[in-house]
Amino acid sequence: MDQDTQLQVQGDPEPVRDPHRSLHSETGARPGEHRGRSGNPLVKVAGLAWLEFEKPDLDRAERFYADFGFTVADRTPETLLLRGQWASNACLVVRRGPRPRFVGPAFQAAARDDLDRLARGSAGTVTAHWGGHGMLMRDPSGYPVRVIHGIPELAALPERAALPMNVGDFGQLGTGPVRANATQRPARRPAQIQRLGHVVLGTTRFGAALDWYLDTLGLIVSDFLYLDGQRDCGPAMAFIRCDLGSVPSDHHTLAMALMPQTGYLHSAYQLTDIDEVAASGEYLREQGYRHAWGLGRHIQGSQIFDYWRDPDRLMFEHYTDGDVFDCTMEPGWAPLSASGLAQWGPKATAEFTGTNDPRVVVAAIKALRDKGNEIDLHALRGLIKAMGS
Ligand SMILES: [Fe+2]
Repeated sequence: MDQDTQLQVQGDPEPVRDPHRSLHSETGARPGEHRGRSGNPLVKVAGLAWLEFEKPDLDRAERFYADFGFTVADRTPETLLLRGQWASNACLVVRRGPRPRFVGPAFQAAARDDLDRLARGSAGTVTAHWGGHGMLMRDPSGYPVRVIHGIPELAALPERAALPMNVGDFGQLGTGPVRANATQRPARRPAQIQRLGHVVLGTTRFGAALDWYLDTLGLIVSDFLYLDGQRDCGPAMAFIRCDLGSVPSDHHTLAMALMPQTGYLHSAYQLTDIDEVAASGEYLREQGYRHAWGLGRHIQGSQIFDYWRDPDRLMFEHYTDGDVFDCTMEPGWAPLSASGLAQWGPKATAEFTGTNDPRVVVAAIKALRDKGNEIDLHALRGLIKAMGS
């Protein structure tokens, strides 16, 4: 009997089939498949520092971001800096611009010398940046990618502690309940974001962009997803983390997917616990914001998630309880499907997958005509099948 596929429930004579079998990425690479890491990366970045956006109306942007759970770190007529509660740099940089758009990510270099190494490798220049240093490159998808070092951190702000939970068989363990003679009453109010977690980008040049991030920034792959029936063509999505050696890092700091159009898909922000995710979601619903998908628990990364659209339809995720991997974990491989994005929760919505956006059809036709990208009819059929399965 395959022990992975059968779970023996105590006191139940019948083995129970694991409903998530084939959805988890429990299988590794086949011989000759992508290794998911570079043999000799230029540097190994230490984390995702911030994300840069442009918005025409900073007042409207600030209202949504405050309701979503950010704290304003600084505000000028042209720039809005937003932060989480943990000690860090501002994690969202919003500049006034003609149209709402994601500009690009900024990564944290592990050492000042790494900026010089990147500058030599990319014909870039290291410049002074907000009290530290930074340098700017462009990835194969066309995103400007900033790498920074030495920018003074903002001090931590006080945050609500996780709720004490009466879980486990505390009677048998003799430890007693953690919460006796006290109730549980999480408030419906804006979340307190702890920190930036990850950004997810669509790209028409997935393979080239993937290798660039592995070779240039030293990121490593936690999970690959391939188009069903097209595994021989290589992965179509990758969840990528920082290589911090024996120190565990987020399952993904960056995720990228082959798409008919290069663009921002969402970014995710960590909250303290599931009540914070659910109760702050109720608050956002009461304010009239557009819910995209949730609550649920992802498979790749295991986060408990809830997705929202801002007034410009850009998507933002609240999450808690994500996986962290050290450098020993090799990439998992699984087929891409909408139903395979969560272990539990409602079915992935068209609002989340973006398949309700009529611009997708125009983008697909354009991508098929354009040369120099990785979208062909075969891949497009695979993507359409994945989003409907
Ligand atoms: Fe996410």
